[in-house]
Amino acid sequence: MQTVNSIQELRAIIKAQRIAGKRIGFVPTMGNLHEGHITLVREGQKKADFMVSSVFVNPTQFGAGEDFDKYPRTLKEDQEKLSAAGCNLLFAPPVDEMYPGDQASWATVHVTKVGERHCGASRPGHFDGVSTVVTKLFNIVQPDVALFGKKDFQQLAVIRRMTTALCFGIEIIGVNTVREASGLAMSSRNGYLSAEEKQKATIIYQMLCRTRDAIRSGDKNFTTLEQSANATLAQAGFQPEYFTVCRADTLEPAGAGDKNLVILVAAKMGKTRLIDNIDFVTA
Ligand code: PAF
Repeated sequence: MQTVNSIQELRAIIKAQRIAGKRIGFVPTMGNLHEGHITLVREGQKKADFMVSSVFVNPTQFGAGEDFDKYPRTLKEDQEKLSAAGCNLLFAPPVDEMYPGDQASWATVHVTKVGERHCGASRPGHFDGVSTVVTKLFNIVQPDVALFGKKDFQQLAVIRRMTTALCFGIEIIGVNTVREASGLAMSSRNGYLSAEEKQKATIIYQMLCRTRDAIRSGDKNFTTLEQSANATLAQAGFQPEYFTVCRADTLEPAGAGDKNLVILVAAKMGKTRLIDNIDFVTA
């Protein structure tokens, strides 16, 4: 697997692949790769002939006081993992390749509604940073298909809306969350947790499953279910930010008649903010 750091080099390689008739698949990441990311590459190989991944810790999607500086940067290990998975090309640009000079302030992509609730409300500017960098990466790579984990369910919804609204013509595939045996969703931020905190964090997926099962058994009192889940998370030592039953398409609060649902949760354990979700169909 070749690694390139410049947009120009990347474009030259992809152009040659496209001329050779190859279908290009793309997995954007911020590195510190785990099995969830590698699954995206493997799923991409079923849909594309030439897989490109990017590792770029994007400063514009971190708010003041968030973990941009301490976000784990593990490029060598990431290269090894991607190479072992059969990824063909890695784009690992420095910040000034993606945002030369003051260009980060020249243009922003904002996805309304779906990008404004939940994490969009609690992390102001976060999805603008994500949408803008993904737009740039899409324009640089020009993939036929791009893959994102369902672990970041709202991010996936934002990217789907943006891709449609801005006519990118890229197939967006959401891939199921990969979990530890304990049920904890794999995340680069799990590395911030102690062994004890990791054990406590398994309550998140347990509450998601318990709430889904209650809804499927006919309990449509979403507010009570949400309050009970928030209380259980708080008892386990979390500061819950939201635990909310939503429509899976718009991420608006679900009504009793809605059938395609997602439960979204964000909670902090100390300084570590974890998110997870479960999507399902109910009668
Ligand atoms: O999910 C991520 O790792 C990032 O938000 C993404 C999509 C690579 C944009 O920086």
